[in-house]
Amino acid sequence: MNLTKEEEGILNGEEGEGVQKAMQLVVKLGDIFGAEELVEIQSAQASGVSYKSIKDEGLEWLEDFASLGAKTRVPTFMNPAGMDLEHWDYFGFPEDFAEKQLRIIEAFEEMDVIPSATCTPYLLGNIPQKGEHLAWAESSAVSFANSALGARTNREGGPSALAAGICGKTGKYGYHLDENRHATHKIDVEIEINKVADFGALGHKVGKIVEDGVPYFTGIKPNTDQLKALGAAMAASGAVALYHVEDVTPEAKEERPAGQYVETITFGEKDLKEEKEKLNTGEKPDCIMVGCPHSSIIEIEKIAKMVKGKNLKTKLWICTSRPMKELARTAGFVEAIENAGGDIVCDTCMVVAPIEQMGFKTVAVNSGKAAEYLPAHCKQKVVFDDIETLIKGALE
Ligand code: F3S
Repeated sequence: MNLTKEEEGILNGEEGEGVQKAMQLVVKLGDIFGAEELVEIQSAQASGVSYKSIKDEGLEWLEDFASLGAKTRVPTFMNPAGMDLEHWDYFGFPEDFAEKQLRIIEAFEEMDVIPSATCTPYLLGNIPQKGEHLAWAESSAVSFANSALGARTNREGGPSALAAGICGKTGKYGYHLDENRHATHKIDVEIEINKVADFGALGHKVGKIVEDGVPYFTGIKPNTDQLKALGAAMAASGAVALYHVEDVTPEAKEERPAGQYVETITFGEKDLKEEKEKLNTGEKPDCIMVGCPHSSIIEIEKIAKMVKGKNLKTKLWICTSRPMKELARTAGFVEAIENAGGDIVCDTCMVVAPIEQMGFKTVAVNSGKAAEYLPAHCKQKVVFDDIETLIKGALE
């Protein structure tokens, strides 16, 4: 790889051991993937924040890295942690888990990582421009940044995103290059889809078919919440990091003409029904858990209006970032939800929290990504449906 004088210097330790170690990692990965040079990034987003995911080995690695004096050079956000960082006691997170989790956050903070603890940094003001280079790790956020915003990031791993944030650079390969951003599959959606859960089911089906391909959708007009649901599901059931939607996403116009795709797939009523049936593995939920990816203020408002002045007979967790909860509090949504018996859980989610140790066995979700991960990662049965149906069924 061609390195600048400055990059060579960092690699030789001229700017300290912390950034040297980060540069070694970034350069090694770039070499593996055939990058010819590094590219400056505008922001990074580190995954591997939950103690449930990274365990003692990850915690020690982070503490060691922080002890070398490494500091981020571009705004670097962090993915959800394994618990609500302020109210873990109230929600019943185990104490030994909490102690380790807080040490992880401290290590990140020591490296100047912003303690955002969210998978939707783009809802918190980190909104990249089209063409900007990033090093983001959370697969649903990668998908949103590449597809909905037209920014450029690979699916980084936790350590590589952090290292890129510390160097302010990443290897120029993969989705940073024009030639890898073209659609490989065309997906013609033949029915009207307008619920977040249906976009999750569509994404779940398409992700399995295209794997790490780049789908180009026609026949849908998703809004921001639906785009995040669609991309998250495809990133979970497959490894989709970029997709295009005709007349919606910024790079859709630059796409190849029909006929040059590996495959054209149609998605109709029968496919939607079948996919939803496949995602349903449970019956009576212990808790409705929404916010995968983390809920927007619009999604929170919708639920607040559904439950205001009523009582929920099933637990309700709405997962989101702490700033989003504060906005919801100002708007009166937190009060409406809590008075009905629901909770807004910050900094974490149903997948990266140790819910299997907290007595949950069956969880209801409207997210294709959560429905994919909950059985394997959290030993849960899943009730999958749209939010209106789930909440209606939970009201007394
Ligand atoms: Fe976010 Fe957790 Fe889903 S990190 S995308 S809410 S699995």
